[in-house]
Amino acid sequence: MNASNWTTAGIRQQFLDYFRDRGHAVVPSSSLVPANDPTLLFTNAGMVQFKDVFLGAEKRRYSTAATSQKCVRAGGKHNDLDQVGYTARHHTFFEMLGNFSFGDYFKTEAISYSWSLLTDVFGLEADRLWVTVYDSDDEAYAIWRDQIGVPEARIVRIGDKPGGQTHESDNFWAMGDTGPCGPCTEIFYDHGPGVDGGPPGSADEDGDRYIEIWNLVFMQYDRAADGTLAPLPHPCVDTGMGLERIAAVLQGVHSNYAIDLFQTLIRAAAEVSGCDEPQNTSLNVIADHIRACAFLITDGVLPSRDGRGYVLRRIIRRAVRHGYMLGRREPFFHRMVKPLAEVMGEAYPDLRNKQSSIEEVLRDEEQRFFRTLGTGMGILADVMANSGETIDGQTAFLLYDTYGFPLDLTQDIAREKGFAVDIEGFDAEMRKQQERGRSASQFGAQARISADAIGALPQTEFLGYEHLTCDDARVVGIVREGDGVASIVAGQQAMVFLDRTPFYAESGGQVGDTGTIRGEGFEFRVEDTQKVGGTLYAHQGTLTEGVLNVGETARARVEADRRQAIVRHHSATHLLHAALKQVLGEHVEQRGSLVAPDHLRFDFTHPNAVTAGELREIESLVNREVCRNVAAQSDILPFDDALQTGAVALFGEKYGDEVRVLRFGEFSVELCGGTHVARVGDIGSFKIVEESSIASGIRRIVAVAGDAALEYVQTLEDRLGEAASRLKVAPDAVGERIEQILERTRVLERELEELKTKAASASGDELAENASEVNGIKVLAERLDGADPKVLRSTVDRLKERLGTAVVVLGSVEAGKVRLAAGVSPDLTARIQAGNLVNFVAQQVGGKGGGRPDFAQAGGSKPEELARALLSVPAWVSENS
Ligand code: ALA
Repeated sequence: MNASNWTTAGIRQQFLDYFRDRGHAVVPSSSLVPANDPTLLFTNAGMVQFKDVFLGAEKRRYSTAATSQKCVRAGGKHNDLDQVGYTARHHTFFEMLGNFSFGDYFKTEAISYSWSLLTDVFGLEADRLWVTVYDSDDEAYAIWRDQIGVPEARIVRIGDKPGGQTHESDNFWAMGDTGPCGPCTEIFYDHGPGVDGGPPGSADEDGDRYIEIWNLVFMQYDRAADGTLAPLPHPCVDTGMGLERIAAVLQGVHSNYAIDLFQTLIRAAAEVSGCDEPQNTSLNVIADHIRACAFLITDGVLPSRDGRGYVLRRIIRRAVRHGYMLGRREPFFHRMVKPLAEVMGEAYPDLRNKQSSIEEVLRDEEQRFFRTLGTGMGILADVMANSGETIDGQTAFLLYDTYGFPLDLTQDIAREKGFAVDIEGFDAEMRKQQERGRSASQFGAQARISADAIGALPQTEFLGYEHLTCDDARVVGIVREGDGVASIVAGQQAMVFLDRTPFYAESGGQVGDTGTIRGEGFEFRVEDTQKVGGTLYAHQGTLTEGVLNVGETARARVEADRRQAIVRHHSATHLLHAALKQVLGEHVEQRGSLVAPDHLRFDFTHPNAVTAGELREIESLVNREVCRNVAAQSDILPFDDALQTGAVALFGEKYGDEVRVLRFGEFSVELCGGTHVARVGDIGSFKIVEESSIASGIRRIVAVAGDAALEYVQTLEDRLGEAASRLKVAPDAVGERIEQILERTRVLERELEELKTKAASASGDELAENASEVNGIKVLAERLDGADPKVLRSTVDRLKERLGTAVVVLGSVEAGKVRLAAGVSPDLTARIQAGNLVNFVAQQVGGKGGGRPDFAQAGGSKPEELARALLSVPAWVSENS
């Protein structure tokens, strides 16, 4: 076929325009970090941001939508990165074009929209398109054949995999083990007989001739943990077309790396890595990896030891190592950010806005890895030169733990040389280390709750903005050890679900409420409140009295003092955020926060340490606002209107159509679902306790408000008072007194030093008497304890002068270590070298040393051997002179 003029950017735009013209809301890509979903490492499909909408748990103002979604698929335990760069279509990062119907249209429209876009708009030849349908989906089959007119020869039914679990098929799509899923129909493009490979469903379907371009999923079920399928409230449509693939088809190329966008990145990779072979696969790796890395960093992921951050680290290090193969020995990868921002910044402006912070994070990680990469490569080369075909687990672990080589990187390098890596051995080393107390991955720590236990529970109504108590809540569910139960008895721990509640469930950094749920003959102590499945409030705690049954009426009471303390810290966090922007600049962006009753923690982007002066200014600014005592105002607004008010939307947060805008006068406006003071004065007072760095470009402030601030200041005052009374001065004279004491200490130390030197040299001079004579040479080997190296040296020199033709060895012991100094008079150095002598003594006391022929020094670790070693000197001189 002829290559068309479609650029990747043009295809993305055309796709969105096409669906906008057909009534779809064009929704921006969501973050690569899935909001409120710790079970999913990265956003891996367009439907992720709509999961709750499919499930009916969330409503949007639109019933059809289209997106171009950023996706990352590179999170496997050991490896699925290794293919990327070497094949035509594997990527760590890709964009998925998708259109969605939430109970609006279904199969007929979904199929005809996709067909008409591909054939009428993109101009693909109809007889190059093949389709697959799910085995039993006669409806989809008929639509393709009768309404679209695809000949039966090009419609393939594909069923469940033989021996697989039910619905484990290429034509049944599920996001994960649970959640929305359904049968699908896929559209394939035939590159023609010049390319190897068979049609979908045939034995050689994995060739390059027939390429899947679009997957249309008919979302009909919600899969529970035990595999059972419950129908969704409304049948929905979820589609996904890989942008890079369709670009390759429309540009008439067989590899995604040959499309316009990748060609630009590959040219940039060649430039930053100094490589002049455009076909070198390392360039594909670098071009691919910069996209995943830059987008992950813009979405707030930073390289780290576990979880998402570790996946990012693995990708960066793999790119760096490919640069190393091309001869780079200094950071280069960060220089890819600029060309990437040039080609993709139009569609994703964050790449431009955050270019310098992305570069900084990458450069920092590169520098770290370059420090150990060379040594690690050397170790690997040695091991491969000296062993059979396997790199042992210990070496792989050493490389991982000390030299920062992710396991898959070691495997990558090993594979190139025909070596395998002993994964079991590596895992065993890793387990040993974890047993030694390293923190485990953060994933998997989530309490397991069976989907049955909560599937039918009604959405919890939250009363806690206005009320701290509710006298007529109903217990709608109880979950004990992950399963739904009808009742619990005193002493048992459980999660209790109410139809409505004043308890705030942990979110947006604010910790969950505590309190009690009481009723006829029972009392349940709430120790924490957490959200489950987005909309259910789980009151976690212990039944302290009686029996609690589902269906009972209860009085729910939040522990009011604790809540008030939390609220003060939450409102103080907003003021702090605004003050940081005012004092440090608009680049400050929230990266995380914790709001607890006794302190708050706020992480934000800023390139340098915040100076003491700036901290004071920020603290004063917040306290000034507190004194102004403006009232808090909260409004529920449509998301877009909310942004118009200038409200700060937080990174990584998921917002529905309607959002809560919280305003403190003109000073602070944020989107926030948390609970807050009525008037800013309620915060009382605000004090910054600590400022530190938590990652490159990310700072952390810990602060306290209200009672906690007063307590903090009082504790400091107590400490100062105590110090003053021990120094016997008034508190404001403490500094001056300490200065005097330090000065006095310095004087005393100097005096002591002089005395020590005098004492040592006096006793050193006396030592001359102890010299013996060997072959006409004066030999002196003595202890001079307490002498530092300077004294040892000067004493050896003086003794040499006094003794004439002489060999002198002095040893001292201090803090369990031996020090040795040896001197040889100039007329002897032709025969006896001080270095040999000192080493002869040193090796007897567990050490070694060296120096000039007339003077040498050494250390040792066995003081108990010193006496004997000194006694051996005359015999050595006699033998060596
Ligand atoms: N969610 C579907 C996929 O990822 C469209 O293929």
